[in-house]
Amino acid sequence: MKNIVILISGRGSNMEAVVRAAQSEGWPAKVAAVISNRPDAAGLAFAQARGIPTVVVPSKQFASRAEFDAALQQEIDCFAPDLVVLAGFMRILTGSFVEHYAGRMLNIHPSLLPAFPGLATHRQAIEAGVPEHGATVHFVTAELDHGPVVAQARVDVLPDDTEVTLAARVLVEEHKLYPYAVRLVIEDRLSIEHGVVRVLDTRLADTISH
Ligand code: GAR
Repeated sequence: MKNIVILISGRGSNMEAVVRAAQSEGWPAKVAAVISNRPDAAGLAFAQARGIPTVVVPSKQFASRAEFDAALQQEIDCFAPDLVVLAGFMRILTGSFVEHYAGRMLNIHPSLLPAFPGLATHRQAIEAGVPEHGATVHFVTAELDHGPVVAQARVDVLPDDTEVTLAARVLVEEHKLYPYAVRLVIEDRLSIEHGVVRVLDTRLADTISH
């Protein structure tokens, strides 16, 4: 049984989607812990209700990014993670933290990377007038919102879309995309060659619709 540790900062709906899929699809993995950098993260309640250990490492109480990341790493490693899943974890990570989890840390970003890294991605997409937007799951590397892409989900940008309506449609896709991508990693169905992810077995890809 592999261990997944999920990091959140807020609502935690992607964390919830991964937890539900791991349990209902009988993955050979369990969500060993949910860790937040904010004590008020709403997602903590869902994890606690499911009996998943939760930890808060309050980023505001650390003088530097390096000290926070060191404390966070210590907490994460208590759960012997095979995979660390960033699910709306709104922190810029230090190079040594990223290096420590190289090849075993995923992030979901609400855009079709490499388009629109950073914040306010839905506004960026509307202002750029792109016909399509979406979400990307990628391995985390030192460069923010970069790294080998595992999977993407697309939505059309509609003429009357606002940031709110577009974000809501993307989020529906995120909740399918992230469990799909995490499962690919957990089941060792990926290889990374020269920074490009290859899916070794397409059976799973056939079973989801996005
Ligand atoms: C999600 O849309 C996720 O893609 C985004 O934050 C939201 C978190 O929602 N992540 C980022 O912007 C990271 N750069 P959630 O807490 O309900 O999963």
